[in-house]
Amino acid sequence: MRITILGSAAGGGFPQWNCHCRNCAGVREGTLRALPRTQSSVAVSGRRDDAFVLVNASPDLRAQLAAYAPAKPRRGPRDTGIAAIVLVDAQLDHTLGLYLLRESSAPWPVYCTDRVYEDLTRGHPVLEVLEHYCGTERRRIALDGEAFEVPGADGVEWRALPVSSKPPPFSPNRRAPEPGDNIALVLRDAATGRSVLYAPGLAEIDSRIEAEMRSADCVLVDGTFFTDDEMIGVGVSSKRARDIGHLPQSGPGGMLEHLAALPGTTRKILIHINNTNPILDERSEERAVLERLGVEVAFDGMEIEL
Ligand code: MLT
Ligand code: MN
Ligand code: ZN
Repeated sequence: MRITILGSAAGGGFPQWNCHCRNCAGVREGTLRALPRTQSSVAVSGRRDDAFVLVNASPDLRAQLAAYAPAKPRRGPRDTGIAAIVLVDAQLDHTLGLYLLRESSAPWPVYCTDRVYEDLTRGHPVLEVLEHYCGTERRRIALDGEAFEVPGADGVEWRALPVSSKPPPFSPNRRAPEPGDNIALVLRDAATGRSVLYAPGLAEIDSRIEAEMRSADCVLVDGTFFTDDEMIGVGVSSKRARDIGHLPQSGPGGMLEHLAALPGTTRKILIHINNTNPILDERSEERAVLERLGVEVAFDGMEIEL
């Protein structure tokens, strides 16, 4: 199984078009040692190398597909390597890219939970809009923890775990989060038995997620913010990380504490990184802290083989 990071940034990307924070200004001017990053999406491929599953469809999808060789059309006048789409939540950074796939000659198999389906047909009815183009075929992700398969990732076993985070701002359920608004995915290669836990949005790590993290060979987890009040400190928002469904890396109970408690053999990677996060600056003290803990920072084009 191979996971390719198509986009490693959170909503807005890095640099964000209207952001003049230290990071965004520095990467724009070329004075900061940091890689630009597109918005949150990964490709999962199994035994076949001419097909893959798109996990989350970001607004930067067009550029991401152009940069990813297996996505290229090759077998006919209309073609793509994308075999199916899996969504972990209904957030815009994970779903706006669906519009960019409207030219498909066949309806898209879209895997999502009931709660996400509800948000994508009511609060933001993108799936209804797509009915006037290529159409979609909804595939239900259940929350019973049962393994399922997704065409395009042969030999990969998928499991969905409900995680604590938040429905998007446009959701009728914004103030009443429920299991299924956000999921983590556990992907296991049936041949090697090796697995990855992918969770770009995690507000809290309960004992079940903790146990799943412990048994995975690789964790690819929420790297949105370093500190809970990061956006307040930078002066770009009054919201705290935890208010919008993201556990910060630092502080008591923070992501780094959880990662440090995992076995030394577990590969630990932060993904969905907000442009305000100081870990993007490769010379920052915060980045040095991660290096000492053996925690990696995902970048666009990064490949994980399991
Ligand atoms: C989030 O996960 O909170 C998002 O990145 C928000 C967004 O899409 O702007
Ligand atoms: Mn997001
Ligand atoms: Zn910024």
